[in-house]
Amino acid sequence: MISLDDFEKYARDNLPKKVFNYVSNGAADQQTLHDNRNAFKRLRIRPRVLRDVSKRDLSATIIGQHVPFPIGICPTAIQKLSGSDGETATARAASSMGTIMILSTYATCSIEEVAHAAPTGHLWLQMYLFTDRKLTADLIHRAERAGYKAIVVTIDSPIAGNRLNDERYGGFNPAVRIPNVEGSSYRPVSGSVQPAYGPDELSESLTWSDIRWVKTLSSLPVIVKGILSGDAAREALAAGVDGILVSNHGGRQLDGVPASIDALAEVIAVTQGTNVEVYLDGGVRLGTDVLKALALGARAVFIGRPVWWGLTYKGEEGVRKVLELLRDELSLAMALSGCSSVGDLGPSMLTRGPSSNL
Ligand code: FNR
Ligand code: LAC
Repeated sequence: MISLDDFEKYARDNLPKKVFNYVSNGAADQQTLHDNRNAFKRLRIRPRVLRDVSKRDLSATIIGQHVPFPIGICPTAIQKLSGSDGETATARAASSMGTIMILSTYATCSIEEVAHAAPTGHLWLQMYLFTDRKLTADLIHRAERAGYKAIVVTIDSPIAGNRLNDERYGGFNPAVRIPNVEGSSYRPVSGSVQPAYGPDELSESLTWSDIRWVKTLSSLPVIVKGILSGDAAREALAAGVDGILVSNHGGRQLDGVPASIDALAEVIAVTQGTNVEVYLDGGVRLGTDVLKALALGARAVFIGRPVWWGLTYKGEEGVRKVLELLRDELSLAMALSGCSSVGDLGPSMLTRGPSSNL
């Protein structure tokens, strides 16, 4: 287990095929899924040389919280299907490493269970906004009471993307429990591996005014997840968000949108000079990917599928190993490119390589 590829291979060989398929899936032609990786490869690093890199500081401050390295965990649903303890294991791993975990609305452990498992963790709650506003507000209040530090609203999913592979090979009813929404009008879509996205569950009519409404529900910072353009970033600023997660949902929603790393620069151009922080997820698999995103101005990156691979390998310990590996690769990449702190990274360290040379 010396690279994230090894963890992926382990998961492919050990997860039930339908579950691995649900996790690895992208939407439609999977163009965006693959581009998330390829776009990182097109960017090349222009290393600095002969800098003293004997001491390297990977730490960052994210919404006022100090983290020892800027790699967090993005929300992925129904983690108990990995055969592990699911979200409580992920939370323990993130907490022991001092980093952020974003819990999915559609988690197989409740908001409170996860907080209990990682009492000193940096936990954020990801929200799908439900047509049922009381349910939406209750979840946010529960998160605030349980000590969560931010609300992440996913804005790229008024309805589900076209996951052809789930339709072709999925369709089993995992009978998973989604405790966060039990007792509400929410019902998992029967016969689908996807936990949600029936017409009553997600509001197709959401607009920016709903983001303003979310801001009034608690004192927690609000981050929007799923921005891919400078125009959308401008609207997010106008709505008063505290952070933007540049994301295409791991290529699972609209196929044909840009790779996250290709969309980052135009978002950064809009937020520069404001207090709004910008993060990225999608295709981060190597320390050099993290370095590239930070160099373009992201304050942190988040990983999705690699967490499942770690959970499949060894639960909490597996997720910790995944985080350690990426952290150590980032430290190595910084040393070899002449950077001793994340503040040393900047866009002049990157250039575009020929795309035929992947
Ligand atoms: C996701 N993602 C996701 N996003 C979200 O806002 N709420 C959710 O419940 C889920 N669920 C989910 C399940 C699975 C299995 C995957 C793979 C992804 C999207 C996720 O937060 C993130 O945007 C991508 O996974 C990031 O890309 P990588 O790191 O997986 O390439
Ligand atoms: C997914 C959902 C749950 O991507 O966001 O599967």
